[in-house]
Amino acid sequence: MKIKQILAEKVQAAMLEAGIPADFTAQVAYSKQAKFGDYQANGVLPAAKQLKTNPRALAEQVLAKLDLTEIAEKVEIAGPGFINIFLSSEWLADQLNTHFDDDRCAVAPVKQKQTCVVDYSSPNLAKEMHVGHLRSTIIGDAVVRALEFQGHKVIRQNHMGDWGTQFGMLIAHLEDTLKQDSVAEVALADLEGFYRDAKKRFDDEADFADKAREYVVKLQSGDARCKALWQEFIEISVRHSEEVYKKLNVTLTREDIRPESAYNEDLQNIIDELVKKGLAVEDQGAKVVFLEELADKEGKPSPVIVQKSGGGFLYATTDLAALKYRSKTLKADRNLYFIDARQSLHMNQVFTIAKKSGLVDKSISLEHHPFGTMMGEDGKPFKTRTGGTVKLAELLDESVSRAAALLAERETDLTDEERQEVARKVGIGAVKFADLSKHRTSDYIFNWQNMLSFEGATAPYLQYAYTRIQSIFRKAGIDIAQLDGQIQLQAPQEKALAIKLLQLEDTLEVVTAEALPHLLCSYLYEVSSLYMSFYEACPILKEDTLEADKHSRLALSRWTAKVLDLGLSLLGIERMEKM
Ligand code: ARG
Repeated sequence: MKIKQILAEKVQAAMLEAGIPADFTAQVAYSKQAKFGDYQANGVLPAAKQLKTNPRALAEQVLAKLDLTEIAEKVEIAGPGFINIFLSSEWLADQLNTHFDDDRCAVAPVKQKQTCVVDYSSPNLAKEMHVGHLRSTIIGDAVVRALEFQGHKVIRQNHMGDWGTQFGMLIAHLEDTLKQDSVAEVALADLEGFYRDAKKRFDDEADFADKAREYVVKLQSGDARCKALWQEFIEISVRHSEEVYKKLNVTLTREDIRPESAYNEDLQNIIDELVKKGLAVEDQGAKVVFLEELADKEGKPSPVIVQKSGGGFLYATTDLAALKYRSKTLKADRNLYFIDARQSLHMNQVFTIAKKSGLVDKSISLEHHPFGTMMGEDGKPFKTRTGGTVKLAELLDESVSRAAALLAERETDLTDEERQEVARKVGIGAVKFADLSKHRTSDYIFNWQNMLSFEGATAPYLQYAYTRIQSIFRKAGIDIAQLDGQIQLQAPQEKALAIKLLQLEDTLEVVTAEALPHLLCSYLYEVSSLYMSFYEACPILKEDTLEADKHSRLALSRWTAKVLDLGLSLLGIERMEKM
């Protein structure tokens, strides 16, 4: 149900009939204040300007042609020529009743199905996942879930960094450690420590450094023993990230991993292709693409090294190969990347080269969706007290234990086991919602107290709003699934809630088009706030509430619970029946 679109089509038709050229759109938007109606159409003003006519008079003509019977109870002109639309309560109630048993909450599948390849999470395997990977992982996953729900074909690509010079030192160190420890699981239990030790030896021991360099070459030329060690290393790191994904309730699986090494075979072809097209040129022994379109202020073209003088390939080369694969093999219509804003230039460079060289189809949409940094209370990038990187797994565990402590202060009739489960969902949900609810591109300050609060736009608040509706049904002794829908909208709070509930499809459309999950977060927060106002104004279980009113209000409550349930699931945040 796309109310915006329904209104836009009707208004545009009236504009046409009033003689306004078809390239002027209705510009339907939510009204900011109740006195301006529920929606407004602002498209007449620019049309009047162009046609050099009085906008109010033109709006009158549009209004005369505008047929919103059934949908609207009032339409009026405001200010210089805005059209204010007040939706009809009967029509809204009708929509809610018609879609009452629809699990999709009146969100229709998209008509234009696209193949969306989404690159997210993509950690470097040499290290344990740290907070730097949180944003890419959960923002990407929220957008992926929304795209899939809309009916698009989504192909997840976890572009793990599993290849590069550092693996020489890692496998050399692994080889030595295995001589003492004998099993890789034990040796690599602490990936971070392992990396540190390997690096230290590389810096301090000349013999070891030589061996490490030798192993890189061997590994790249396919030496069986080096490859076996490497695979052992990769397997354990992958298992580690799988654990984090599970903890985070993120949908990535092993099948979604297509690591950098998957493109090794194609790298030389990419270079040859770029040279043949005259895009890559020799520069001090290296192969470089100079991009005029990304020139700096002095007009110097932006250089992108695609092959080192020794013949080695780079991060950019792999990304070019990945772009080709996603376009030509996976047949992506959209290719979305969730990567830190600091890689914007890199993405811009590879996108430009890929399009210019024809490595990707012309029609493909290449989108880097950057995000800001998670900051500590001191306003600097989030670190441990001693300045180290914070391991993601540890951060999540801490959130769960903090949630458990908070829940222990509240009175509940939960068993110990249920309590633990609730703490887990609240703790993980809190971290995710705090992050997802900020505008993607801004930096934000990580604050335990705010994110775990039961007030304001937080996961616990939304989870609580959901459980509260469940408890109303328990109190009423009615099975929420059995209720049938006969909603009537009387109080203004009921109408406001109804309109919001029916805006889910419009909201999701922007969320996926612009890859902005925070819009879904604020939408859900508005839904719960409007529900709370409705709940206060319209008693449900009071003795003197009429049976028909009680029924209607319960039905509206059920709709709300379903929207919260669906919305939170699209954000990857778990719900519970009791809290
Ligand atoms: N592994 C990279 C990093 O940790 C991110 C990779 C993002 N994806 C890509 N196709 N470049 O910085």
